[in-house]
Amino acid sequence: MSNTMPWRDRMRVKVDFSNMMAENIGERGIRDIDFSEAFENCSYAVTQTDAARNAMRWRDLHSVQSDVLPEVKRIAERVRRSYDTFVVLGIGGSALGPIAVQQALNHLHYNSLPAETRNGPKFYVEDNIDPQRMSDLLDIIDLRSTAFNVISKSGSTSETMAQLLIIIAALKDAVGDEWASHLIITTDRERGNLIGVAKAHGMDTLYVPDGVGGRFSELCPVGLLPAAVCGIDIEALLDGARYMDELCTGKTAGNPAYTLAVLSLLAIKKGCNISVIMPYSDSLKYFADWYAQLWAESLGKATDRCGNIVHCGQTPVKALGVTDQHSQVQLYTGGPFDKVITFIGVDNHRANVCIPRELTEIPDIAFLCGSTLNALLDSELYATQYAVSKSGHMNLLVCMPEVNAFTVGQLIMLFELQTAYMGELLNIDAFDQPGVEEGKNATYALLGKRGFDDKREELERASASTIRYRV
Ligand code: PA5
Repeated sequence: MSNTMPWRDRMRVKVDFSNMMAENIGERGIRDIDFSEAFENCSYAVTQTDAARNAMRWRDLHSVQSDVLPEVKRIAERVRRSYDTFVVLGIGGSALGPIAVQQALNHLHYNSLPAETRNGPKFYVEDNIDPQRMSDLLDIIDLRSTAFNVISKSGSTSETMAQLLIIIAALKDAVGDEWASHLIITTDRERGNLIGVAKAHGMDTLYVPDGVGGRFSELCPVGLLPAAVCGIDIEALLDGARYMDELCTGKTAGNPAYTLAVLSLLAIKKGCNISVIMPYSDSLKYFADWYAQLWAESLGKATDRCGNIVHCGQTPVKALGVTDQHSQVQLYTGGPFDKVITFIGVDNHRANVCIPRELTEIPDIAFLCGSTLNALLDSELYATQYAVSKSGHMNLLVCMPEVNAFTVGQLIMLFELQTAYMGELLNIDAFDQPGVEEGKNATYALLGKRGFDDKREELERASASTIRYRV
């Protein structure tokens, strides 16, 4: 690729969908004519998504936060100056983005680096409420030098609230009256309990804007504060999202998110109800977790917008290249034709590791000598694409020139927009999560929260009817 090309264009994330097509993988693939027809007929998804832009505030986060960024940076600086450890308490959309971006853009052993070479304080995201996990965390952190970012859009999620209560008590023991200064709240401006707590105790507070649901919130303070605390260039992240948004707005041709959505729709019509995401880079390992939530929670819906029962959605599966070549790829080549595999490849890895000329006397090993882990990884990606394609299974490649803040911002916007277009194509609300709410409400009922008595009775009736099926 020409070096005279502007840097932003050289860093463009691209999609290669050759191996989705019948021409390359045979009859299980998509015929050119079907793709062209669908591409033409589905363009309303772009028009409608663009038209709904004002309600989809997540889409403009790259350009509307000029008053928010200084506050994010101020709080991040305070944390970086005053604390050795930074812990996020949050779950789902309030955790997966921060985890993914940290893993993508910082050292893979970030917490183990010496403080002088680390990009910021040690970083933990406590999403699960396994009691051992909390207990073990408290064993290793020094509360006197730890800041906690409590992230909950609703300000009421049981898991996060329980963690908050535990941490408040622990902080009171450790630092006495200073406890509230160790807590930073990210929540809705008005709704929920957290905002009241934050105000009552004068805590630093950032807001999840209206129109930004949990799984679409990585580019608002939910993700920006943890990233800034860990020394990540949040402006480059937003710039990447803006660049991808520009590639997608108001057009279908050359719009990678739209292309992905049309391919997904055609794949679903061919019976592919599973979407495997398989990055070939450890730095993108948790990006697959972020994507899985986005795809599953947004598209897994029982009814469409007209109230018809549809039970739609594609089950996301997370995999990692090359690790899962040795665990799942047999299924992807030999198994049923029920999945699409999205590989994510990286042209230039941040590190370059040579394979030394050792044991050259053993021919079965010597072929590796003098090569690099980079070349081995690239070859294995190519070889796996080849094997999957040869077996007639649909797959595509998202190509990242590098993993940097600009390309990660693009990747976030690419998949968010693909998901929004899919919502239009499936005629469902991609931004609600009634199934998640049902589980949250059942938890409130079981734990005796006020106002959930009817739900509790409903649960008791349901559990009585399952007793005779136990062994
Ligand atoms: O995407 C979503 O809306 C959910 O996964 C939420 O992020 C998750 O349930 C946590 O909710 P909250 O941020 O309100 O605590």
